[in-house]
Amino acid sequence: MKKILAIGGSNSKDSINRKLANFVASLFENAPIETYDLSQKDIPLFSKQLEDAIEIPTEIRAFAKLMDESDLIVLSLAENNGSFNAGFKNLIDWTSRIPGRKIFNDKPMLLLATSPGARGGSSVLEHAKATFPFRGAVILNTFSLPSFDQNFDNELGITNPELLENIKAIVQEISPTI
Ligand SMILES: Cc1cc2nc3c(=O)[nH]c(=O)nc-3n(C[C@H](O)[C@H](O)[C@H](O)COP(=O)(O)O)c2cc1C
Repeated sequence: MKKILAIGGSNSKDSINRKLANFVASLFENAPIETYDLSQKDIPLFSKQLEDAIEIPTEIRAFAKLMDESDLIVLSLAENNGSFNAGFKNLIDWTSRIPGRKIFNDKPMLLLATSPGARGGSSVLEHAKATFPFRGAVILNTFSLPSFDQNFDNELGITNPELLENIKAIVQEISPTI
């Protein structure tokens, strides 16, 4: 059975991106989902000096292992000032320091973003789409959910019918390939 790793690219405890990643992962039939909750991890802020002192934190090796054991990464990025959430950036910076590793280790990825605004995290999504392939992400597709509060319900997931159809079509297209 194919395993999906759902990641919210945010260290917020009630991350809307973790909610979106989980919901989209749940659309894949018969696939066990592991959720990575960055807000529950104790990861120090990367610096060269800290790296020299402590090497790679156990939490980072565990994160890399979770990615390696998954068949698909569903990653939804939070947008902070047009770029990555700082906690997420720290996570991928540390992961990139594992010797010989490309961050995402050639895993298939469905890349998402959402925000309360009308652009739905489009800036960070575009940046990641352009750069993550150089970090070992095999991006199968991307999807942005605009105006999260209007288009998502905590119980029901995506409530906007057109957007729900769009993401379901993407899931259907990807499913046979993972
Ligand atoms: C410091 C900061 C900067 C933000 N910058 C943006 C932004 O550039 N674009 C945007 O759409 N939302 C921005 N927001 C709003 C976030 O999209 C919102 O906080 C969202 O909940 C973040 O996703 P998360 O809940 O998964 O962390 C910002 C929020 C904060 C706290």
